[in-house]
Amino acid sequence: MAMTTPKLRAELDGIPTYKPGRPPAAAEDGASGPAYKLSSNENPYPPLPGVLEAATAAAAAFNRYPDLACSALTGELAQRFGVPAAHIATGTGSVGVAQQLLQSTSGPGDEVIYAWRSFEAYPIITRISGAEPVQVPLAADETHDLDAMADAVTERTRLIFVCNPNNPTGTVIRRAALERFLDRVPSDVLVVLDEAYREFITDPEVPDGVDVYRDRPNVAVLRTFSKAYGLAGLRIGFAIAHEPVAAALRKTAVPFGVTQLAQDAAVASLRAEPALLERVAGLVAERTRVAAALAGQGWTVPETQANFVWLRLGERTLDFAAACERAGASVRPFAGEGVRISVGETEANDIMLRTAEAFRKEL
Ligand SMILES: Cc1ncc(COP(=O)(O)O)c(C=O)c1O
Repeated sequence: MAMTTPKLRAELDGIPTYKPGRPPAAAEDGASGPAYKLSSNENPYPPLPGVLEAATAAAAAFNRYPDLACSALTGELAQRFGVPAAHIATGTGSVGVAQQLLQSTSGPGDEVIYAWRSFEAYPIITRISGAEPVQVPLAADETHDLDAMADAVTERTRLIFVCNPNNPTGTVIRRAALERFLDRVPSDVLVVLDEAYREFITDPEVPDGVDVYRDRPNVAVLRTFSKAYGLAGLRIGFAIAHEPVAAALRKTAVPFGVTQLAQDAAVASLRAEPALLERVAGLVAERTRVAAALAGQGWTVPETQANFVWLRLGERTLDFAAACERAGASVRPFAGEGVRISVGETEANDIMLRTAEAFRKEL
């Protein structure tokens, strides 16, 4: 019998694989000390007080399956945000929840709209669903072009991602602009406000998605414990959405996908609010310092409300990333477009700033 290969879905052809931020190589050029990772928008701090203890205690029982419903965490989140527990759905990182949102809404023949460039998982998970990605270029100032996104809606549109602040540019959408956009989107199209970096926002004009979702049944909010809360390695995120959507998320969840370690660590993290706020304030102060220093060197730095900055370097992108790597800090290049630089430890930021200054002088 002729050997054939298993039949795979045609939609998978040509899907790019997710590129994680590079871990840093050892510093060269005589630089000493540890090498730093500024390539994945992670939190540079160790776990918040009480979190390691909670996770360790949960680890002692990992012969058991976790709580399928994530009840304790769901209860905490419901109380914290003042929403019904039925409106909360957890998942394996917010990217896991985003994938469930697509599975719940979109398939072959459907369209999914998002800005580009934005979070690099959007095209991947959209294509996996079988739906067609509709990428709407960012405006010249690196912000979402919401008018163009609303214009792109057709009768086939099922879901729109709005990334606020946007990864990788750090730019935000303010209240009036978001409301105007949402008023234009048909009520049977789900709008997902991806707020992975919400905790770093200091601009009062940027709306909290949880306020926006309340009287808009077609809006869902995505949040994560990976960034400000520092639980990236535990894979836990959640959505806040009205019942039909949240219920669909519970149906599409991988059973027992969120471990008990992650659940208990998330609850402990929520209870460590004062330490969280202190760390976020520290990172925001570093963000301000880094952005001002880069601007002082002559770079154009889009105003950022996240824990990273964006430099549109075009053809020089890979050279800049290589220079940072040699100096001991890895950043995230998007070849031909620009680099996203996470705000990390002061020393890491200083390494990057020294490299940026030298690079600028050579231009
Ligand atoms: C905009 C945005 N959304 C979602 C995520 C996914 O984060 P996680 O799956 O760790 O919650 C990221 C991570 O980089 C992101 O930048």
